[in-house]
Amino acid sequence: MKILLIGSGGREHALALKLKSGTTPVELFAAPGSDAIAELGTCLPFGVEDVVSIKDWCENHRPDLVVVGPEAALVAGVADPLRAMGIPVFGHNAATAQLEGSKRFSKDFMKRHGIPCAADYTVTDFAQGEAIIRSWAHGYPVVLKADGLAAGKGVVLASTESEALTTLRAFLDGQFGEASKTVVLEEPLVGMELSLHVLVDVDAEHASFAILPPCQDHKRIFDGDKGPNTGGMGAFGPIPFLKPGDLDRLRKELVEPTVSGCREDALQARGVFFLGVMWTSSGPKLLEYNVRFGDPETQVLMQLLDEDLPQLLLDVAKGRLGNRSVKLHPGCAITVVLAAEGYPESAKKNVPIHIGHPSVTVIHAGTKRAGDQWLTNGGRVMNLATKAADLDAARAAVEAALPEVSWPGMQNRHDIGLRALNHAKGGKGVLDPW
Ligand code: AMP
Ligand code: GLY
Repeated sequence: MKILLIGSGGREHALALKLKSGTTPVELFAAPGSDAIAELGTCLPFGVEDVVSIKDWCENHRPDLVVVGPEAALVAGVADPLRAMGIPVFGHNAATAQLEGSKRFSKDFMKRHGIPCAADYTVTDFAQGEAIIRSWAHGYPVVLKADGLAAGKGVVLASTESEALTTLRAFLDGQFGEASKTVVLEEPLVGMELSLHVLVDVDAEHASFAILPPCQDHKRIFDGDKGPNTGGMGAFGPIPFLKPGDLDRLRKELVEPTVSGCREDALQARGVFFLGVMWTSSGPKLLEYNVRFGDPETQVLMQLLDEDLPQLLLDVAKGRLGNRSVKLHPGCAITVVLAAEGYPESAKKNVPIHIGHPSVTVIHAGTKRAGDQWLTNGGRVMNLATKAADLDAARAAVEAALPEVSWPGMQNRHDIGLRALNHAKGGKGVLDPW
């Protein structure tokens, strides 16, 4: 199967490794890919938003499947012309990608379809926003969200009125260009956050979905959820204390109305929805939609999937997911992110990486190659990922592998999954304080 993978990060390397290790022989191409992905296929010099070059290449090379990693490519509309040419694409068209590309669009969708979410206000003018903030009755922090894509930096939890006003001013003044000229102000939700990935195949004729194991990301740079926010320092799944009844609630209250909502709104869906969920004292609420796989959640999910990934993604792309259940390996998977010195403020590049013989999967996120030597080339540099019988064992396995990969200034957490593990060991569930 000739596959074009769009993207270049850890998520895409994890997808590439899984695409190449199924039963279907795969000839892999990647745009733009990375030095690590180049070991598995051919990299093409196109940026992820270079819709014209990607379309031209597909016209000439007719891949059997295109798999789109990043949201920027989907929001830029990379899937639409390919699908119009009859090329199967795992990735939503531009209209559906608005569920991630516009917070305003996604909040309207949630409310229209009765999906539980935070109360919100849309603001395009400072005086209007100032009046709302000065009479804020939802408790602090005020959650401010740039409407459009802002490279993961468009959400601010302002803990004081003055911080909320300063942030609002900066957003409306164009801190993220057009993306922040519209701002959504939200009620703060308190509880346990989780990442729910759902393969979705919806059009006017049918609606199918398959829910993947719930995962949990760890956003802060330091152990104990301390320090600044990052793109994610590690993840694990499934969450050991979620019971079948909890999964039923996620399906009934969030996933089913999302899928039926797409159908009612004539939004075709051919890819994955990654629901950011807050499990509050009054049940699960939707924080946001992402229209692509999470990073580093993908590194966990690829460990858990007991499927021929090329065939599974092709089925979604061709609109034939049907009611097949997705096969999973038993147990629990984990990934630990190895980040560069200075991340997240700045990342020290070109530092030589020592790689020994780790007994786990090594995924490259921000590396480059100089001869036989790998160098740091981004904030999140590598991921170690593995699976084991349970979360305790998975944590131990990844911890044992950590000394095998290192460089001066490397940063990583040692407590990925620890809070959930202690919650489970204490006999606690979703209704207990997190
Ligand atoms: P989003 O891009 O909407 O997921 O926001 C990024 C992060 O901000 C989420 O992963 C949450 O941790 C946090 N967040 C977003 N919305 C809320 C909210 N209404 N209440 C509390 N935290 C939020
Ligand atoms: N892990 C969070 C994200 O991919 O957005």
